[in-house]
Amino acid sequence: MTSIAVVGCGYLGAVHAACMAELGHEVVGLEVDLERVASLNDGRAPFHEPGLDDLLARGLASGRLSFTADPAAIAEVEVAFICVGTPQRRGELAADVSHVDAATATVAAHVTRAGALVVGKSTVPVGTAPRLAEELARTAPHLELAWNPEFLREGHAVDDTLEPDRLVLGVTSERAEAVLREVYATPIAGGTPVVVTDFATAELAKVAANSFLATKISFINAMAELCEAAGGDVVLLADAIGHDKRIGRSFLNAGLGFGGGCLPKDIRAFMARAGEVGADQALTFLREVDAINMRRRSRMVDLAIAGLGGSAIGRRVGVLGAAFKPHSDDIRDSPALNVAAQLQLQGADVVITDPEALDNARRLWPGLSYASTAQEACEGVDIVLLLTEWPEYVGLDPDELGTVVRRRHVLDGRNALDVRRWQAAGWDYRALGRPH
Ligand code: UGA
Repeated sequence: MTSIAVVGCGYLGAVHAACMAELGHEVVGLEVDLERVASLNDGRAPFHEPGLDDLLARGLASGRLSFTADPAAIAEVEVAFICVGTPQRRGELAADVSHVDAATATVAAHVTRAGALVVGKSTVPVGTAPRLAEELARTAPHLELAWNPEFLREGHAVDDTLEPDRLVLGVTSERAEAVLREVYATPIAGGTPVVVTDFATAELAKVAANSFLATKISFINAMAELCEAAGGDVVLLADAIGHDKRIGRSFLNAGLGFGGGCLPKDIRAFMARAGEVGADQALTFLREVDAINMRRRSRMVDLAIAGLGGSAIGRRVGVLGAAFKPHSDDIRDSPALNVAAQLQLQGADVVITDPEALDNARRLWPGLSYASTAQEACEGVDIVLLLTEWPEYVGLDPDELGTVVRRRHVLDGRNALDVRRWQAAGWDYRALGRPH
């Protein structure tokens, strides 16, 4: 058992803290937001993440997990994980690392145990870890830094943390490696591969992985553009190329493209950082990846307006999905809300529903209309847009939904609906990258 602090209990930190307690460690989560601390200490995650509430309840009941706003509570820990966010800087491409700097300073000021390991998990521009290590050498020479990027996906965060695909350990000493191997002894014993490397490779591994995933999505969405122009079917095309093991079928789902708090901002920050380290040409392709992604949203708006007869003014649109992806209530850079807002700006009367993200959506876009069920959102609409592929929307009965709409016209922004079933129920079905 290791005594652990998790600094920053947002998405990453709350999940990490609960999972470390589940692995048998003694964990204190440090968080400045008092409401969040209270909610976590009550066993309620402040966001939707399947399985997390159970894990919090188990950790709290075991006495091995607690959350606090008091930095004095981390004095004696052996390992302090830095889990704060690195959002895109306002008006710039680059990431804002000020929270990482502040969290590291907090650890330096409060962790007193000699030889304690400070472990960065946040997604940072390459070169951040050596800078922080220098800072620690100056301000808290009794501490050592390691970098251990996190690869969890929202909606699968608990499994991704307890049974990760791999662990990347950026270390400068054998001792740091040994401490981290001890922390992750359970997944390692279960077969999780470990890559032990330097700081730069560990930092790059995270942004490289997210850039590759974004590139895969934009690649298939570029193929969707070609299918639209040349008459192909991008879903079958993805199957056809995805069966090649070297390519693989996952992350080849064409549609509205990627959003969320990670992929869009990470590829932009990566481009900005490449310029700063003198390798700006290496990542210019990511500009195209970003552009292809954003074009899908405009294409969806154009298709909807065409489906409404050329003008959205006064027409009613039902939108299924507000979260940036299913099983999440996260609406950061949500393609669904972006499309809904564009249609509203063009004069449509848009009603949105989502099983988990409505409160967040209402806060960010108070000007849009919301309904708590698909039936309500689609009441009297001229067109239905599936923009986030929640299982409950994919499984909707097209006959039943057909009784509430004004026109049976559906745009499948995620290529998720059963085309034949919807067409058999008399729906005019359109999708991105597919013939109609
Ligand atoms: C992503 C990465 O997948 C994680 O490995 C990483 O740890 C995380 O970012 C992070 O940096 O913290 P996440 O943002 O939770 O995870 O979501 P993804 O599952 O990657 O989906 C991102 C977006 O791509 C969603 O909007 C999704 O709808 C879209 N997507 C995904 C597609 O359009 N097509 C696909 O085939 C797959």
